[in-house]
Amino acid sequence: MLEKMNEFFDKRSDGYDEHMMTNIESAEEFYPYTAELLPKTDGVKILDLGCGTGLELEYYFKCNPTAKITGIDLTASMLNALKNKFPEKDLTLICGSYFDVPFEENTFDAAVSVESLHHFTKEEKIPLYTKLCKALKDNGYFILTDYFALSDEDEHTFKNELLRLKKEQGIDDNEFYHYDTPLTVEHETEALLAAGFSDVAVLNKWGATFTLKATKQVII
Ligand SMILES: C[S@@+](CC[C@H](N)C(=O)[O-])C[C@H]1O[C@@H](n2cnc3c(N)ncnc32)[C@H](O)[C@@H]1O
Repeated sequence: MLEKMNEFFDKRSDGYDEHMMTNIESAEEFYPYTAELLPKTDGVKILDLGCGTGLELEYYFKCNPTAKITGIDLTASMLNALKNKFPEKDLTLICGSYFDVPFEENTFDAAVSVESLHHFTKEEKIPLYTKLCKALKDNGYFILTDYFALSDEDEHTFKNELLRLKKEQGIDDNEFYHYDTPLTVEHETEALLAAGFSDVAVLNKWGATFTLKATKQVII
């Protein structure tokens, strides 16, 4: 049975960190790797899309203890776990969908998202990434570490399977359901470029997990 996205993560917030670090291949490598790519300057402002319990932030605070984080997540219990882990950190936590929450423009030095955006289509991502690009300061960047489809065929299969399951279960609302529908790196890159990022680079890869860096370069 498909579960609504926030209900799926709400049920799994207890023990989530342990589950990710023991069951997700290469998690012990890609979380610290992602964190290392974020700015190390004191007091930088970072936006985290789908921050959950803050696994990537745990590593980031080791590189930059004074970073100011705005974290957006649909699931209140994941955000509560994050707040309880880092009571002394500068955290602004917003419970809502990153598709709906407005982002202040020219505000963030960098943004990050880990293992959250593989549930959405290219059409859904372009307006989100447009909003994200505007929210970054000049020369700011977005680090995306996520699970990707390894071929166009896989991407179509995941997408069609979600449509089939929704039809079978009589779901016709526009809510988010937890089912992985990753894009290929090529289609993700197209979405980021269409949103106004000037450069998108693949920095690393572990199986089907990739790290991409999208930069908002201001050409004078
Ligand atoms: C697999 S967890 C990843 C959490 C964290 N980034 C990590 O890597 O441990 C996915 C998170 O994305 C959140 N999420 C999914 N769709 C979302 C949306 N539209 N807006 C905000 N958060 C979302 C879920 O609530 C969940 O906490």
